[in-house]
Amino acid sequence: MAPVIAVEHLRKAYGSFVAVEDVSFDVREGEIFGLLGPNGAGKTTSVECIQGLRVPEAGAITVLGLDPRTQAAQLRRLVGSQLQESALPGRLKVWEALDLFASLVPGGPDWRQVMERWGLTEKATASFASLSGGQRQRLLVALAVVNEPRVVFLDEMTTGLDPAARRATWQLIEAVRDGGATLVLVTHFMDEAEHLCDRLAIIDGGRIVATGSPQGLIAEHGGELLIRFSTDRSDVSFLEEIEWVDTVSRRGTHVAVAGHGPVLALVGAELVRNGIVPDDLRVQQATLEDVFLRLTGRGLED
Ligand SMILES: Nc1ncnc2c1ncn2[C@@H]1O[C@H](COP(=O)(O)OP(=O)(O)OP(=O)(O)O)[C@@H](O)[C@H]1O
Ligand SMILES: [Mg+2]
Repeated sequence: MAPVIAVEHLRKAYGSFVAVEDVSFDVREGEIFGLLGPNGAGKTTSVECIQGLRVPEAGAITVLGLDPRTQAAQLRRLVGSQLQESALPGRLKVWEALDLFASLVPGGPDWRQVMERWGLTEKATASFASLSGGQRQRLLVALAVVNEPRVVFLDEMTTGLDPAARRATWQLIEAVRDGGATLVLVTHFMDEAEHLCDRLAIIDGGRIVATGSPQGLIAEHGGELLIRFSTDRSDVSFLEEIEWVDTVSRRGTHVAVAGHGPVLALVGAELVRNGIVPDDLRVQQATLEDVFLRLTGRGLED
């Protein structure tokens, strides 16, 4: 199946400054795809080029088989996008904004339902300017999905939301995907990326440095897995024979096994086969944040 979004060797400069050097990735139908990267990495620039909002210097992009450079008008009807705050007039009321955006598609979807679902009903007649930061953010995301788009772009959708609103937003985003949409999320929240994204790309200095599923990236770049447990058995040298085990160390009754890949399942199986069933088995593994910092890691001053 052809990807919903295909980006090949995208390059975008602002004057002499190259913001996006060489970015390539595919987004598959029905997927939630994440773009992660430090400030200034080129995430927003890339997403804007993909939507036809900016014209790249080089590279090929298709979205739903359309070229955003030459078919932006056709694309606009199929795509939903989170606006920047500055794009809405302060006096516009919440219901007016939803009504306006829903009316852009023929047969206009029921925006009242969207307003209810996104918890905005009690603010229906409030002006955009009078909303709190989190309420504004929620409205901007609701506007991105109100016209039932096939592809949705959300750039830092949960920034400024309280923890409950963030979790609620995740559920709503999953519902949008379950409705058949394909989503691209730009986020700085590793828990959000891990929870929502099927696959993600880490971008740094205008280049993709890694692509994969959150678990796949952790397995590939997260380094060793550490398995700890305690046992009275004095000889656990059989663990050293297991493929993927790097080291076995013990202190008193505490045993630590370091290894790679599928080592956890293999160690578990071998322990059980040898009659050891520890009730305190723990696994330490790198998180997506560790991987992110390892791949992009440097201080703010660099
Ligand atoms: N309109 C512009 N004119 C000049 N330079 C720009 C413009 N927009 C972005 N840049 C520069 O391009 C680089 C990439 O910016 P971009 O907004 O794509 O980063 P980002 O990955 O979205 O960062 P953040 O996480 O901070 O949102 C930055 O160095 C930024 O200063
Ligand atoms: Mg950005």
